[in-house]
Amino acid sequence: MSFPETRPRRLRRTEALRRMVRETTLSVNNLMYPLFICPGKGVRKEIPSLPGQFHLSVDELDREAEAIAKLGIPSVMLFGLPEKKDEVGSDAWHNEGIVQRAIRALKKATPDLMVAADCCLCEYTSHGHCGILLDKKSGSVDNDSTLENLARTAVAQANAGADIVAPSGMMDGTIGFLRDALDEAGHENVVLLSYAVKYASAYYGPFRVAADSAPAFGDRRSYQMDPANLREAIREVELDVEEGADMVMVKPALPYLDVVAEIRREFDVPVAAYNVSGEYLMLKAAAEKGFLDYDRAMMETLISVRRAGADLIVTYHAKEAADLLSKAP
Ligand code: PBG
Ligand code: ZN
Repeated sequence: MSFPETRPRRLRRTEALRRMVRETTLSVNNLMYPLFICPGKGVRKEIPSLPGQFHLSVDELDREAEAIAKLGIPSVMLFGLPEKKDEVGSDAWHNEGIVQRAIRALKKATPDLMVAADCCLCEYTSHGHCGILLDKKSGSVDNDSTLENLARTAVAQANAGADIVAPSGMMDGTIGFLRDALDEAGHENVVLLSYAVKYASAYYGPFRVAADSAPAFGDRRSYQMDPANLREAIREVELDVEEGADMVMVKPALPYLDVVAEIRREFDVPVAAYNVSGEYLMLKAAAEKGFLDYDRAMMETLISVRRAGADLIVTYHAKEAADLLSKAP
């Protein structure tokens, strides 16, 4: 019988020791908070599929922006619910489109808050797909004509004052196309955050209810990635970095932390991970039943995404996490 010579437990004895040897940190700087903007006035309505998150009308945004800024969260990501939808999603690029109006309101209320706009068409198309349909029955999306409408959308968002444009539609060549369009429109300083690696995931379910963006038929598997693929993720990021992506995102986060880690190792651009709606809802639902400690599970989740190598985490937990971080060292 021999007792251990090395005792890793020594370094776990007190909270101060644990803090001294902690390898990964989570800061409010790492958090980006998604917002859902809806038509109307004075609307602040809890989203049934995302408890604790709200549909907000544009006039509610100054109050919301101040609360977010006060927590120290440096950025938000905007999604819009348009008044009307059509075959091509034209409300996405109107000057008076819902997201453009929201961007102007936010930049006016809190100029230092970085505003990112999700740049996709699925919330604006009547069929719910992320681009122009090639074949109406199968839901196959035409890549190149969709790029033109994404470019219109990106420029409209930048004209409204967006600091960051985040294309999430998984069309090939998006980043190069949008970079050119933004530069031509005089928006050289607008950051492109590419949803470079977006998997065809069941975890988007609650978001699609919240954003009313579920495909009316078919699915997104002809443009979003197969969950089984890792090498393909590297190829996607390689292309986006070549085309000028300033930051790249992996989405969802938890089931794909190996992908986050690999992208972190291979590339030197900032890496974001999207802790998506289904991941958020799982914790909320379990906590509601009293089966887990919500705050601890949330912080454990967020630190795991940081440990995998993400610089930024887009998360519905952002406000709750920021609040906890302000209380604990
Ligand atoms: C659409 C888009 C999706 C999300 C953000 N933008 C998913 C999709 O329906 O494919 C998901 C976000 C979430 O689940 O929180 N391009
Ligand atoms: Zn989309």
